[in-house]
Amino acid sequence: MPARSLSPSRLAEELSQWYRDNARDLPWRHPQFHDRFGAWGTLVSEFMLQQTPVTRVIPHLAAWLERWPTPTAMSRATPAEVVQQWANLGYPRRALWLHRAAVEITERHGGEVPRDVDALLALAGIGDYTARAVATFAFGDRHPVVDTNTRRVIARALDGRSQPGPAARRDLVAMAALLPEGDAASAVFNAAVMELGAVVCTSRAPRCDRCPIADSCAWVAAGRPDTGDDRPRQARYEGSDRQARGAVLRALRDSPDAVVPADAVIHDWADAAQRDRAIDSLVADGLIEAVDESFRLPR
Ligand code: ADE
Repeated sequence: MPARSLSPSRLAEELSQWYRDNARDLPWRHPQFHDRFGAWGTLVSEFMLQQTPVTRVIPHLAAWLERWPTPTAMSRATPAEVVQQWANLGYPRRALWLHRAAVEITERHGGEVPRDVDALLALAGIGDYTARAVATFAFGDRHPVVDTNTRRVIARALDGRSQPGPAARRDLVAMAALLPEGDAASAVFNAAVMELGAVVCTSRAPRCDRCPIADSCAWVAAGRPDTGDDRPRQARYEGSDRQARGAVLRALRDSPDAVVPADAVIHDWADAAQRDRAIDSLVADGLIEAVDESFRLPR
């Protein structure tokens, strides 16, 4: 048993105070960011942060929002321009989805990012995390925002497990039960739990000596046991089809007019079958298109 068990309200107070004292200085935490880009800025940054680390997102974000400061501005771009701008952020289908979401926001919501979670969930590429992150961090509403860091903090602090199980709806319920009453306090608490998981309660090398709730953490009280990890593993990137897809996209992005003759697309790739698979799957995803014996980014 934890040495000291915290009520939800004390947990929220301690973590929120820790966050106020320790939060990293990130672009979207500045009021000017919201003044300038509103909910669209939050939506674009959260889209990128879904699967790309903060340090890789930051160098890209300003250029994106300067180029497309509103959903309507992005809706007028071609998918090719958006895929091009996505550069090396990884999981490039997100570029197409973000473009599609911009079109949907323009057509269905008059160019304004909706505030309602169900309306957000209905947009391309937006799931439980991003919808609630936008409603919470852009609009200040009270929702449970659950990312992988949040899930790990809850698994350890409350359940005494070293890693969370596979993502599940009960994670939203668990987080909802911990939220403090007020909208603003709840937004800070959501950010605080995510931040603790990102910088202190990390997956492989948690810094429990710096954790504000270590003395009430069920996992610490149990002696930090390894309780296993039953989440699906991410495959290695090196040598993978994903790497081949990345190389094909880079070749198209880097070529004039974003077009490459079919027989020249990463022609020196060691594994020709893998190259062909990568090309076929990119065509199937709509990330590249075949035209006149060439491949190009989608127009
Ligand atoms: N603040 C709001 N959302 C965030 C995220 N995904 N990562 C880091 N800080 C955030």
